[in-house]
Amino acid sequence: MTPLDPSALDLSESAAQEPAGDVALGPGAVLLGGFALASDRALLAALADVLRTSPFRRMLTPGGSAMSVAMTNCGEAGWVTDRRGYRYDAIDPASRRPWPAMPPAFAGLATRAAERAGFPAFIPDACLINRYAPGARLSLHQDKDEQDFGAPIVSVSLGLPAAFLWGGLLRSDRTRRVCLVHGDVVAWGGPARMAFHGVDTLQGGRHPLTGAIRYNLTFRRALWPLQGAAMAPSSIINKIG
Ligand code: SIN
Ligand code: FE2
Repeated sequence: MTPLDPSALDLSESAAQEPAGDVALGPGAVLLGGFALASDRALLAALADVLRTSPFRRMLTPGGSAMSVAMTNCGEAGWVTDRRGYRYDAIDPASRRPWPAMPPAFAGLATRAAERAGFPAFIPDACLINRYAPGARLSLHQDKDEQDFGAPIVSVSLGLPAAFLWGGLLRSDRTRRVCLVHGDVVAWGGPARMAFHGVDTLQGGRHPLTGAIRYNLTFRRALWPLQGAAMAPSSIINKIG
């Protein structure tokens, strides 16, 4: 990290930050304010481990343009996009090796957050990791490449704040802007599972733990329904993609 400048001494988003409590975004969707704050350093340390095997990269959309958000994954499957389309793949196309295993600190936090949000026994098998530098944005989309829509999505924000765009089940539905700060978790499932969402262009700034970056960890159940997980043959994983 570069040396701190005086403008970085505003700790309102980290040391001085108070967990904001739970805010319902609608049926099946809740913002758990500050839920990940107590785990922030453990999550960032685990992230650094993941990056040693599978560094961030800017993937190509099916149309051929590089995404402004840099991405990587951990877990049994990783979300990828390229000229062939969007999908989950057990192999990191950059390293040609399996994605790094889901760190216990990641999985534990996701399960606890889901439970608090009303989705018990959530065991994610995929974690998409997004890195936003100022200027990066993620356009409005649904998470719909997973095999199991019965499981929720759990999304953890670390570092710089962002304006999360929370819409409805139709792309044309009105979106509301929800400010997500370091340590916030959003969980959505059930009637909200297919809600459109996105992230507005990241503004500049500096966070004491991440510098001029926002990270987002998005936990999903990508490969098969939870009930069948123990019985699914591992060969299924290798056929993904
Ligand atoms: C996502 O929808 O994959 C990411 C959302 C976020 O960065 O908050
Ligand atoms: Fe998403």
